[in-house]
Amino acid sequence: MVNKQPSILFSQQEIKHTVVRLAAEIKKDYQGKHPLFISILKGSFVFLADLIRQLDLPLEVDFVKVSSYGSSKETSGKVKMVQGLNTPIKGRDVLVVEDIVDTGLTLSFLLEHLQKKKPASLKLCALADKPSRRQVPVPIDYLGFTVPDKFIVGYGIDWDENFRYLPDICVLD
Ligand code: IMP
Ligand code: MG
Repeated sequence: MVNKQPSILFSQQEIKHTVVRLAAEIKKDYQGKHPLFISILKGSFVFLADLIRQLDLPLEVDFVKVSSYGSSKETSGKVKMVQGLNTPIKGRDVLVVEDIVDTGLTLSFLLEHLQKKKPASLKLCALADKPSRRQVPVPIDYLGFTVPDKFIVGYGIDWDENFRYLPDICVLD
């Protein structure tokens, strides 16, 4: 079993407030639109589930899976699409929903890939940002938390598939 001890960085209460704030910003900007939310598996599924339930917009969701990490804590630097979209995005208002922007390699790859498909608009909503580790710039339109250069788990986010079930955002020592 895993003998690492996670400690709380952002509590369930703080997460709830942040999700409500983000939803209000998104709702204002997408009024009268029919956006497609593209969630990056697996880390963002809990965040997506909470976010969409704070929005009363006629939105759709789809999922992509992008690989950048194996079982290590460092990005391999190589990003590839493991599971693609099932929804055409040409002319759609697309909002990518991600857990953490770290080096930025995953998102810069994905945003470039999606942009080629000519969406009407393409924006990014990230639960967390670790700016100290950025290697390539990534514009984050809706940001939940800025986090220090620590490894984060919980609220859907894993370390080697562990700790996703934790209700708070925690730091792994
Ligand atoms: P990037 O390509 O380096 O920006 O990495 C992005 C992906 O790495 C995120 O979507 C996460 O899946 C993963 N990641 C980055 N930092 C952490 C962390 O602190 N905890 C868990 N996963 C992380
Ligand atoms: Mg991820």
